[in-house]
Amino acid sequence: MRRKIVAGNWKLNTTLQEGIKLASSVNDLVAKGLPENVDVIVAPPFTHLAGIKKVLTEKIGLAAQNCAAEPSGALTGEVSASMIRSAGAEYVIIGHSERRIYFNESDLEVAGKVKLALENDLKPIFCCGEKLHEREKLIYTEVIKKQLEYGLFDLDEEKLKNVIIAYEPVWAIGTGKNATSEQAQEMHQYIRHLVEEKYSTRTAEEQVILYGGSCKPSNAPELFANKDVDGGLIGGASLSAKDFYGIINSF
Ligand code: 13P
Repeated sequence: MRRKIVAGNWKLNTTLQEGIKLASSVNDLVAKGLPENVDVIVAPPFTHLAGIKKVLTEKIGLAAQNCAAEPSGALTGEVSASMIRSAGAEYVIIGHSERRIYFNESDLEVAGKVKLALENDLKPIFCCGEKLHEREKLIYTEVIKKQLEYGLFDLDEEKLKNVIIAYEPVWAIGTGKNATSEQAQEMHQYIRHLVEEKYSTRTAEEQVILYGGSCKPSNAPELFANKDVDGGLIGGASLSAKDFYGIINSF
């Protein structure tokens, strides 16, 4: 049985002090109990990683929101995969649509980051998702296929086992307009089918695929009830420990 995951992407929010408070509150709630087979991850800003690592129990995983495309060197302001690992994180979000759109990250760059993450013992949370006009033009499956083929599918099968895929339709992110349960299931099933085509039925069955985009306690039960939706990558609602825990308990 695939594990379920609920991951909170804090994006560009919280000071260090606020972040530690939020992580401690999530910790306290998670200590009350977790649904069976569910893993919890938080992804605070880089500056918070080492400090938050100290307050988290082993029940909660730690992720960075991005990593540099190079292992080291003269790249002022960048943060490498090895630095992230040394700060105590076990995961890193790669290819989030906000990075693809606002920082012009290409599929090729995303693919390089995935490899660097794996080389540094970090599990990538690989994001894919179509924009509104691509959905309206009914080319969303092609968009996702391209993002997976160029960004992820040059990995060998063993390495892919350490990757979590997150389907995040851009039109649903931060808009309050989540994908419907049917739309999410359709795309998750399609992504699993692509993994099966490229790798194997077994790997496709084991692949964890998260949904992201305006997920909240009120819609999470319906979204998570789909057989191919293995949890969520949560933005806004992960900034409230209560809402985040509500989503975790939607399973
Ligand atoms: P929201 O939950 O705020 O829509 O953000 C989703 C997201 O981008 C998570 O990575």
